[in-house]
Amino acid sequence: MVGEAPADVKSLRLPPPLPPPTIDVAARKMSLRRIISRGQIRRRVKELAAQIRADYSGQRPVFVCVLKGAFVFLADLVREVDLPLEIDFMAASSYEMEKTSKGHITILKDITTDIAGRPVILVDDIIDSGLTLQHLRDHLASRQPASLRVCALLARERALSAGALIEYLGFPVPEGFVVGYGIDYAEQHRELPDIYVIEDE
Ligand code: IMP
Ligand code: MG
Repeated sequence: MVGEAPADVKSLRLPPPLPPPTIDVAARKMSLRRIISRGQIRRRVKELAAQIRADYSGQRPVFVCVLKGAFVFLADLVREVDLPLEIDFMAASSYEMEKTSKGHITILKDITTDIAGRPVILVDDIIDSGLTLQHLRDHLASRQPASLRVCALLARERALSAGALIEYLGFPVPEGFVVGYGIDYAEQHRELPDIYVIEDE
C-alpha cells in the first residue's frame, strides 16, 4: 500500500538557481589552463544534438558511451537530442607500455544491448592516436548494427589530419594533456565543469 507522503516530503520544492561554482584551480597544486568554457561546451553540445536529431529522425539510436571519460558528455548530449534512444556503456584499456604491439587494447567492459540491426552512436571523450576508436569501431561493427557513427567531444588535430573517422566532433584540440568535463589525469579533475590543459611546470 502506498500511503500519503509525509508533510515534509510534500512541501519539498526545487532549490532556487545557484550561481556557477567557483573552482580554486590553484588549490589543486597543478597548473591548469582553461581552453574551453562550460558555456562553449553547452552551445556545442546543443549543436551536435541538433545534428543527431536531424540525422536519426524516426529512429531509436543506441548511444554507446566509452567509460569513464565520456560519461559527462553523454549525460549532457542525450538530454539535448530529444529522440527516443537507448544507452549502454563500454570500457577499454590501452597498454601504452606495449609499444611494440602498437597499442594493444583490451575490452574491460562490453555492452549488454543487442545492437544487431540497430543504429549505434559511439560516444567518446578524446581521440588521441585514434587506435582505441578503431578497435571499438571494429568490435561494435562485428555485431552487425544497422549503422555505426562516432560522436567525440575532442580530437587531436593530428588524428584528424591522419584521417580518423569521426562523424560528430565537439572541438579539435592541439597537443597537451586535457582534463575536465569527465576527462581525467590519473583519475583527477573529472569533476571540473570546464576543459583545461595541464601546463608543463
Ligand atoms: P588513442 O587510442 O590514442 O586515441 O587514445 C584515446 C584515449 O586515451 C582517450 O579515450 C583517453 O582515455 C586517453 N587520452 C588521450 N589523450 C588524453 C588527454 O589529453 N587527456 C585525458 N585522456 C587522454
Ligand atoms: Mg577514453
